[in-house]
Amino acid sequence: MDYALLNAQLEALAQAEGWYVPLMANAAALLWETLTDINWAGFYIVKNGNLVLGPFQGKTACIHIAREKGVCGAALRENRTQMVPDVHQFPGHIACDSASNSEIVIPLHSAAGAVTTVLDIDSPALNRFSADDQAGLERFARTLETYMKGLEAVEKTIYLAGGCFWGCQKYFDLMAGVLETEVGYANGPTPNPTYEQVKHDHTGHAETVRVKYDPARLPLRELLEKYFLVIDPVAVNHQGEDFGIQYRTGIYYADPADAPVVTDALKALAARYDQPLAVENKPLENFYPAEEYHQKYLEKHPDGYCHIHFD
Ligand code: SME
Repeated sequence: MDYALLNAQLEALAQAEGWYVPLMANAAALLWETLTDINWAGFYIVKNGNLVLGPFQGKTACIHIAREKGVCGAALRENRTQMVPDVHQFPGHIACDSASNSEIVIPLHSAAGAVTTVLDIDSPALNRFSADDQAGLERFARTLETYMKGLEAVEKTIYLAGGCFWGCQKYFDLMAGVLETEVGYANGPTPNPTYEQVKHDHTGHAETVRVKYDPARLPLRELLEKYFLVIDPVAVNHQGEDFGIQYRTGIYYADPADAPVVTDALKALAARYDQPLAVENKPLENFYPAEEYHQKYLEKHPDGYCHIHFD
């Protein structure tokens, strides 16, 4: 199979039109015309954290796939290609067409790295897709995602204060589904505070991490549960060896739709403690990025102080 030629054909189509509907429609048709021994080729699009049927070639297919379900859901959640030599051995496989015996599903991303879509190809043959097919089709997916325009942006942002922001940033950077982080000073009255002002003049800001994440891979509730693992939620103005109002814990949301999720998560957390929670639950009032030397501090200083124990 000449995947270089297939990729060149896709490039030509993509240059003619980048809007995702015609591009996906023709990409599916191109796969359908080119690949032998397949019975379905097409796309599922991420919508509200789950998958909905997109352009395809083949028999009519399931319209909705929950993120927990099927090979497509696994590709979305794990953000990696699923090669399934025998679909009957895959727990939770969804048989849209009983003739399918093997399948490959590849996630596609936005520029920020969130999963926007999955490409799904099914075959009536067992073990239809080789490592060469996987490499060629992943290249096809990379080309497609660079051109595809007009898909809803699905990245979300939340602001989390959990004590010293050096360790918190590293913790969130290690988490699957986190797209980007930045440390800064949130919800204090002085504009553009410096680290020294926040630390010594008690400006009232909290050391906070701006966390941009892919809600389809990491729903807010799961992100908050992971955040709870590294904070002492009953400590007041104190985490680890750090004391002061800048080390308070807090969840600051920029999207009012997040408020009930935050409230529910904190209610469930409170039930696990005898003392009242000290974690703030507030809309974001302001966030001032910290000085460059504080960004990714523990990458720059691997032996630097950290109140979070990564083991
Ligand atoms: N088999 C897929 C469902 C989509 S159909 O193959 C078109 C799955 O298990 O996710």
